Amino acid sequence: MSTDEFPTDSPAVVTCGLPYANGDLHIGHLRGYIGADAFSRALETLGQEVAYVSGSDMHGTPVAVNAEQEGVDPAEFALEWHEQYEETFPKFNVEFDNYGHTHDETNTELTQEIVRTLDEEGYVYEKEIQVAYDPDADQYLPDRYVEGTCPYCGAKARGDECDEGCQRHLEPGEIEEPTSTITGNDAEYRERTHKFFRVSEFADYLTEFLDGLEGTSNARNQPRQWIEEGLQDWCLTRDMDWGIDYPGSEEEDVVLYVWVDAPIEYIASTKQYSERVGTEEYDWERVWTADGEIVHVIGRDIIQHHTIFWPAMLEGADYNAPRAVAATGFITINGKGLSTSRNRAIWAEEYLEEGFHPDLLRYYLTTTGGLQQDVDFSWDAFREKVNGELVGTVGNFWYRSLLFAYRNFEGTPDADVSKEVQERIEGAIGEVREAVNDYSLRGIGQAATRLAQFGNEYIQRNEPWKLTDDDPEKAAQVIRDCVQIAKAVAVLLEPITPEKSQLLWDQIGEESDIADAGLEAALETPPRNFEEPGELFEKIEDDRVAELNEKLEERVAAAGGEDETESDETDSDEAEGMTDDETTADDLEPLLEDRIGFDEFQDLDIRVGRIEAAEGIDGADDLARLEVDIGFETRQVVAGIKQLHDLEELPGQKCILLANMEPAELFGVESNGMVLAAGEEADLLTTHGESEVGEKVR
Ligand code: 2FM
Ligand code: ZN
Repeated sequence: MSTDEFPTDSPAVVTCGLPYANGDLHIGHLRGYIGADAFSRALETLGQEVAYVSGSDMHGTPVAVNAEQEGVDPAEFALEWHEQYEETFPKFNVEFDNYGHTHDETNTELTQEIVRTLDEEGYVYEKEIQVAYDPDADQYLPDRYVEGTCPYCGAKARGDECDEGCQRHLEPGEIEEPTSTITGNDAEYRERTHKFFRVSEFADYLTEFLDGLEGTSNARNQPRQWIEEGLQDWCLTRDMDWGIDYPGSEEEDVVLYVWVDAPIEYIASTKQYSERVGTEEYDWERVWTADGEIVHVIGRDIIQHHTIFWPAMLEGADYNAPRAVAATGFITINGKGLSTSRNRAIWAEEYLEEGFHPDLLRYYLTTTGGLQQDVDFSWDAFREKVNGELVGTVGNFWYRSLLFAYRNFEGTPDADVSKEVQERIEGAIGEVREAVNDYSLRGIGQAATRLAQFGNEYIQRNEPWKLTDDDPEKAAQVIRDCVQIAKAVAVLLEPITPEKSQLLWDQIGEESDIADAGLEAALETPPRNFEEPGELFEKIEDDRVAELNEKLEERVAAAGGEDETESDETDSDEAEGMTDDETTADDLEPLLEDRIGFDEFQDLDIRVGRIEAAEGIDGADDLARLEVDIGFETRQVVAGIKQLHDLEELPGQKCILLANMEPAELFGVESNGMVLAAGEEADLLTTHGESEVGEKVR
């Protein structure tokens, strides 16, 4: 890996967490797969050599338990789901260069080879441990076969994961008050010998690795804390028969832990791709053992596996280290935790059956919030975003400019792009480059949408419809600019809305595949002639949303009733990018991923003020009218603090005021600034030293 900005001279691989092959895909899965697909496409537009790979996670108790419930052989069960996933992803324009599965030969061989190397290098040892056992079922109880209490936080947990509490990985034997999920009986602990990986020996290596790791900050910060608390060695084997055998072991009914072979599929899948296209075209060994750029997109619930166990395994077996781990937040539905068992989810097939275009969901999921923020999905918010940004801004600009060009010039007018537009497009290209290097999908989408917004303003400002008769040359030039902007928006948006961008591409008469175009194509002259364009986005009507809301409510109710307090509930089979329920969400609003420059901060005129008067506003439950002295003048400000502060106490107190806030009128009272406050209780910000009223906060 290099530390150079993308694009680099080394081949890259983008992966997304493997879905357990055990149930229908839903919006929680899609966030990760679409996100990684968009990121991989974006790298390609920068000119980066890249492969996008993943596969189905076939082993482990998540699959075995569900297969057993259905009375089916786990191999058959998992393969069926795997095949369904293979069919579903392309329907969302998620195009893997290779999509394999963990039970295939490539992964089995590679897993055994890597584990053998770790063993030979002295990183594996045997230890007697206590393993949960169900005497009635006469069975050991690995991972999801056992439930109990987390020894760290006291939350209800399952065998290998405190999924409702502190999110820690739990080692066999750690869970307290174990009960069997097979019979519901109390489990007993029995002694067994298992293989352990000396993760604790990698503490220094991992600390350094994390210092250089790119991606989202949560993927660096959480593991740093775990390392500080002291790393435990990691149990590599499980008492079950579904999985990959420990290399060379004769022991029956003991297999490798699913988290050993699952990430190795990242390598196996890359290898399969390489073998298919030829190593001259894409060299998997260079990627994984030399200077490749490895980017993992995962859900934040599996950070520990990807930033502790996995890089330690790679290092121990002499493989390359990941360059980036980008961990997405969870998806909530109407503000509540996504829950498959409550049917509070948007299912992949359901979304398509409702007739929505995949690119709409791609846009929603990648541009609503930063990558590590939780994203709420509601049909209302979806409609608002689609109608506002895709229909209102992008689609509207595309259609009006191409239609005008077609009607008046039968295509792209013969004129040069103006300097203003050329520079604006160059600026947008720069924003995309920066966003890719910041792992900000939202940044990519915003750069494109803002360019379309500029296009709308530009056309409005120049009113070409008034120029066609009086100044045809000027009209040609304005429309030439607009066609160029339309083309540029399509190029910039391609990673996020590949199919819609291709349609726009076709409409302007381009004959190639837009995915092969690269960012520079945004500035290349479009073909001279094109046909009459059509509208590419369709407005979502309010009654459609009402209908969808009703359907969702009905099925949640049918699956067990609606709720206000559902924190007791959890699903057992979620893959990354989703939440089991709302209990794990941090109460704090997530930090914004997008950074601002010092210049942008300077745009905020924040001053020290002194409250001179404070009174409630009649008729408004929460609002108070304040008079705030800011040195130069006294400002009248409306603040939502009526219920939260004793207004009589406020005069004389210092406060902090954003002075160049746009004036607004609330309940007939003009507000000319904003007092700053923290949290739900509107804790008013102040200063603690000698600063004078009117002084600037910097
Ligand atoms: O948590 C999960 O859903 C796992 N199936 C993810 C595996 S990702 C990787 F490491 F392979
Ligand atoms: Zn816990």
